[in-house]
Amino acid sequence: MHSRSGPHRLLFGRMYEDVEIERAAFHGKRRVFCIASAGDTAIKLAETHEVVACDINPTQLAYAQQRAEGAPRETGDAERAMNFARTFMPLIGWRSEYLHTFLNLSNLAEQISFWCDHLDTLRFHAAFDALMSPAILHLIYQSQLLTVLPPKFGSILRKRMECTFANHPNSTNTYAKALFLGETEIAAVSKSANIRFVQSDAASYLESCSPGSFDAFTLSNILDGAEPSYRTRLTQAIGHAATKDAVVVLRSFAEPPSDLTTNHAHRDRSILWGVVDVRKTLEF
Ligand SMILES: C[S@@+](CC[C@H](N)C(=O)[O-])C[C@H]1O[C@@H](n2cnc3c(N)ncnc32)[C@H](O)[C@@H]1O
Repeated sequence: MHSRSGPHRLLFGRMYEDVEIERAAFHGKRRVFCIASAGDTAIKLAETHEVVACDINPTQLAYAQQRAEGAPRETGDAERAMNFARTFMPLIGWRSEYLHTFLNLSNLAEQISFWCDHLDTLRFHAAFDALMSPAILHLIYQSQLLTVLPPKFGSILRKRMECTFANHPNSTNTYAKALFLGETEIAAVSKSANIRFVQSDAASYLESCSPGSFDAFTLSNILDGAEPSYRTRLTQAIGHAATKDAVVVLRSFAEPPSDLTTNHAHRDRSILWGVVDVRKTLEF
């Protein structure tokens, strides 16, 4: 078992990526390459695919593997930071009963009017935008990652929240519940046999695979803050390891370029992403 507090820490106790995007995009595909992170995507995809789950961080990989073997969730640095942020909710007038009522709504029009009337207040704007300012984010995240965040990230994330509430019922949105209330699903999942766990950076592992090894790839947002040379290398490694009609899903916190026709961010219920790019590997 790797230390949770050494140089490799447990950053994510859960994933904030809506796996329904992958489930739809990978329908009919057999072998899937995914980033392990907290294991949620690998575990869900393993119900219908053969999965290789890869992570550069051995602590995160060991945690994902334990979860796939039935261990319950733990708290990572991301959840600790969000738990801390949530302690300020009463100060901005966000009462717990409002949040619970809001997150149990299913009617989209009611969700938006509740959001505007009770939660999307000037105090929330000021507090959230301050929390998402570069000065505060610098205390938590590496500067490389921050380079991809759009200016006024707080206001952009608030727009992503509103878009999610306008398009997806809250009552079934476990991602929104995890962000606003903290973890609500701590139970262990049943064992997944169909996953092989690999500790590596994604490009090195894919370069080492036989040509045509994978029908689908889901890469989390590993290119946010990566060097341009790593993007080129990963693209080539995917081209090498992909079958002819393979599909790639890549997320980013960045705002989407206006000509990105393959962006499915509006379908991802986890709120955070500006880009959820779903495309054929040939176009990647
Ligand atoms: C990019 S982070 C983002 C987390 C994600 N948003 C989520 O909801 O889980 C996910 C994982 O990618 C891993 N990672 C980052 N760069 C990688 C790379 N080049 N190859 C393999 N894993 C990588 C990190 O160790 C981390 O566990």
